[in-house]
Amino acid sequence: MPKILFVASEAHPLVKTGGLGDVAGSLPVALQSLRADVRLLLPAYRDTLARTGKLKHVVTLTVPGLESPVRILEGKLPGTPVIAWLVDFPPAYDRPGNPYLDPHGQPWPDNPMRYALLAHVATALALGRTTLKWLPDVVHCHDWQTGLVPVLLAREKSRPSTLFTIHNLSYQGLFPYQTFTALALPQELWSPEAVEFHGQMSFIKGGLVFADQLTTVSPNYAREIQTPEFGDGLDGLLRHRAARLTGILNGIDDTEWNPARDSFISKPFSLRQPRNKTANKLALQKEFGLPQDKNTALIGMVGRLVQQKGIDLVLDTLPALMHRPLQLVLLGSGETGYEDSLRKQAMRYADRLAVCIGYDEGLAHRIEAGSDMFLMPSRFEPCGLNQLYSLRYGTIPIVHRVGGLADTVVDATDENIANGKANGIVFQEAHAGTLLGAVDRALALWRDAGRWKRIMSVGMRQDFSWRRSAAEYLQLYKRLQNSAPGVRQRERKSATSSSRRR
Ligand code: ADP
Ligand code: GLC
Repeated sequence: MPKILFVASEAHPLVKTGGLGDVAGSLPVALQSLRADVRLLLPAYRDTLARTGKLKHVVTLTVPGLESPVRILEGKLPGTPVIAWLVDFPPAYDRPGNPYLDPHGQPWPDNPMRYALLAHVATALALGRTTLKWLPDVVHCHDWQTGLVPVLLAREKSRPSTLFTIHNLSYQGLFPYQTFTALALPQELWSPEAVEFHGQMSFIKGGLVFADQLTTVSPNYAREIQTPEFGDGLDGLLRHRAARLTGILNGIDDTEWNPARDSFISKPFSLRQPRNKTANKLALQKEFGLPQDKNTALIGMVGRLVQQKGIDLVLDTLPALMHRPLQLVLLGSGETGYEDSLRKQAMRYADRLAVCIGYDEGLAHRIEAGSDMFLMPSRFEPCGLNQLYSLRYGTIPIVHRVGGLADTVVDATDENIANGKANGIVFQEAHAGTLLGAVDRALALWRDAGRWKRIMSVGMRQDFSWRRSAAEYLQLYKRLQNSAPGVRQRERKSATSSSRRR
């Protein structure tokens, strides 16, 4: 079985700002249950250290450009058998709150140094340049924060294979040329064929150019990012690497997101016992200070308040939405402009719109459990996890037909309802008008209890767990294991032939 070094900048429940955290916290567990040997490498942020429990100092190493040594602390991803290695370097990671942003919501100015450090440590581990005996066959990197890992490893003749997963192409880790020089990277990397991107240094390009294999988090997004509309200037490069790029749909942690056993919600429910969903709805209305009424449709939203999520469309549609017989609850944090507008609108429509600005894991579960519908008008969505949680919780997703949303939500046309395929409402264009039309369709269906139940039960029956996707990753790792460049491969060959001789 392949040995995988899983390098990420966040992993739930140690640190999470979005879906990357969910994936990096649950895919390694699923892989381990398929017998892969996975080690998770993460920065030792202050809150992460507090959440890990018992830690053992296993390695000290020196990293180019740093005067003091870096320690690796070993613990477990809480509640799982997966070993987590935390890169402990207090000047880089011992800071409060969000891993990427300072208390004013601005990126930490030394982010390039912080994630270059993570890459140097990953590289040292991958090449066996520490006292740790464990050597990976594949290094699996995620998003721009790990983009330098494939760059550094590609310079070695004998090394493990690299896999780079794109969770979101629009976050690229772009920095000025001075950053490139400050990181003391080899000068030949400053080229459009390497990490230069229109005069800036691009971390994500490092991953896209140098990784042996690329994946992204849904088959549809894998196609979309090869087009100018979704390629963020990198579509040409991605078309060039198309033979090495596949889409593997994210799974969900179906233990954590299970309405029958969810400790965050007021009453457990399931497909067989759906009644308690109403109790969760009433509790959610109460928690948000809205009139408690099971006969008013309740729409939920949870997410980062950024343009990607189509929050501006929701704001544009609000005056019309608020004339409909519905309530809307929203949990999110992000750009100050959106946060302020939402707060203002919530005061204006106090009896139908309730907003919680912040980050609250438990409330996210209660919104999934208590809402009738879940709104995701994303402009683009590499995979999206909330619609998958919604399906599991019998909450009909209303989504823009894009990325992973298009791969997972089947529109409630008469035909799809009749043949038992419909699990949500899908609209074509990201415009206020189409969004409103989709909500109206949802409201009309909701009044038809028989059809609504039918759609709900399709989603609740579906299996979006990691089972299938983790097996796909495993296949990929095995292929990569067999094609690792250099001596290690030769070593493996000679080991097999000598064992044959014996
Ligand atoms: P993205 O990764 O683009 O943010 P996803 O749908 O893949 O979108 O995943 C978002 C994850 O982050 C989900 O688990 C969601 O519940 C969670 N999340 C986002 N915003 C909040 C918030 N304000 N409070 C709690 N959880 C949140
Ligand atoms: C990103 C994407 C989201 C995806 C998540 C996990 O943040 O925006 O669509 O589900 O990563 O892969």
